[in-house]
Amino acid sequence: MLGSLQRNAQRVSARHADKFDDEARFLRSWLEKPLLTGAVAPSGKALARTMASYVDPTRPGPVIELGPGTGPVTDALIRRGVEQERLVLVEFNPEFCKLLAKRFPRATIVEGDAYDIADTLGGVLKEPAAATVSSLPLFTKPPPVRLELLRAARALMAPGAPFIQFTYAVIPPIPKRPTEYAMSSSGRIWLNIPPARVWVYRGL
Ligand SMILES: C[S@@+](CC[C@H](N)C(=O)[O-])C[C@H]1O[C@@H](n2cnc3c(N)ncnc32)[C@H](O)[C@@H]1O
Repeated sequence: MLGSLQRNAQRVSARHADKFDDEARFLRSWLEKPLLTGAVAPSGKALARTMASYVDPTRPGPVIELGPGTGPVTDALIRRGVEQERLVLVEFNPEFCKLLAKRFPRATIVEGDAYDIADTLGGVLKEPAAATVSSLPLFTKPPPVRLELLRAARALMAPGAPFIQFTYAVIPPIPKRPTEYAMSSSGRIWLNIPPARVWVYRGL
């Protein structure tokens, strides 16, 4: 009984230490490159779960994640039922890439520029992707660059597959184009700090 309590306490304290380490890594990355990192802390569980909830794990094909950082959304995707082997993680920060490789050894980790997704993933995908899940700080880029990213991601995905993006802003991260794609959003996720919203774009 005492042994099992001790083991539980050790597990809880290891989880807290990981969380604290991730927060420290993130803050350091933000201090060094605020526009690239886009947030001072990793996304919380509620936001990560909401992002993952828009991915249908039964749809075949790889799942692309853009800007996985320390991996909270990656973790939520796996909990959602997406096998690690199907995940293609595109991350710019080499320190985060090393950490991701340790945490998700069976995922494909691509160190590169997500805005250049066609080239970055050239030759990596063997079939159309089932979804793209992005945490990129899109508002640091002008609207035409965001739109181009959506178009390039759609070209890599199966028809109707979702492009999922979170934002702290109140307006959509990629402007409306009703003739080109449908868009919808989650409610505000108040449990995240700062509160966020998830937008989903699907080609018509
Ligand atoms: C707001 S953080 C989100 C991290 C993580 N997904 C989360 O929710 O906590 C944005 C991430 O995008 C990465 N990033 C920014 N620009 C990028 C780019 N052009 N290509 C790939 N990754 C990029 C940053 O290094 C950072 O890890």
